[in-house]
Amino acid sequence: MNAAPEIARNAALIARRAGGVKPRVGIVLGSGLGPFAEDVEDAVVLSYGELAGFPVPGVGGHAGRLLLGTVSGTPVAVLHGRAHLYESGRADAMKVPVRTLAALGCDTLVLTNAAGSLRREMGPGSVMAIADHIGLTGVSPLFGEPGDDRFVSMVDAYDPQLRARLQSTAARIGLILHEGVYAWFCGPQFETPAEIRAAAVLGADAVGMSTVPETVLARHAGLRVAALSIVTNLAAGMSDTAISHAQTLSVASAAAADMRRLLKAFLEDWPK
Ligand code: HPA
Repeated sequence: MNAAPEIARNAALIARRAGGVKPRVGIVLGSGLGPFAEDVEDAVVLSYGELAGFPVPGVGGHAGRLLLGTVSGTPVAVLHGRAHLYESGRADAMKVPVRTLAALGCDTLVLTNAAGSLRREMGPGSVMAIADHIGLTGVSPLFGEPGDDRFVSMVDAYDPQLRARLQSTAARIGLILHEGVYAWFCGPQFETPAEIRAAAVLGADAVGMSTVPETVLARHAGLRVAALSIVTNLAAGMSDTAISHAQTLSVASAAAADMRRLLKAFLEDWPK
């Protein structure tokens, strides 16, 4: 699919509606982080339904709206709602939204998600910056993409400078920010305990069902990426507490306040 005309149309419509706002940072809100949308000042809101090629999210905790405005004085575009591989079987479901953010002028994408932890000391409520990922789904959002730039490097995909800035921001506000490797499973079923043991051997610190395709799309579009996980549970087989989507949402909502604080302070520290 050549999405270029849709992206250009979306960018023109958004620019018209958003008046003078020229976003620099795109932010994708994961499960439970919806309240961060309230931190967007002077928000102009578009529903995904108005935008060509944007997904209609079907998962509880995921709305479908784009907000433009400022957070801590930094102009942002917030994607409140994402599509996952397990909804359609398509890894490129976020292709048009990510490229639309790039077309609007964003040079950085901050991704957030809920994840299961493989580290006991990084329990529910912890916040982890993703340092690297392991793609375990066997698919790419760039399948079918033409051109040599599809062979995009994934070294330092999670920008080392942004990671360092996240750490100094976290220290400033007194928040422990873990760092680790995120393994991408397709879902929607949670992992088996054997899969979690395998992921641990491979070097994963956390597991989840999102984010990685958006990182690949963003790197392909030339955006810098930072990604943050809220740990909602110890991964399958590691604790007696049953894993469920309801638990994901409730723990993510409870821990969202820390993530919100971190994001606001991070954007305050943004070079103006
Ligand atoms: N596995 C996959 N995705 C998740 C988990 C998990 O344990 N917790 C929150 N999202």
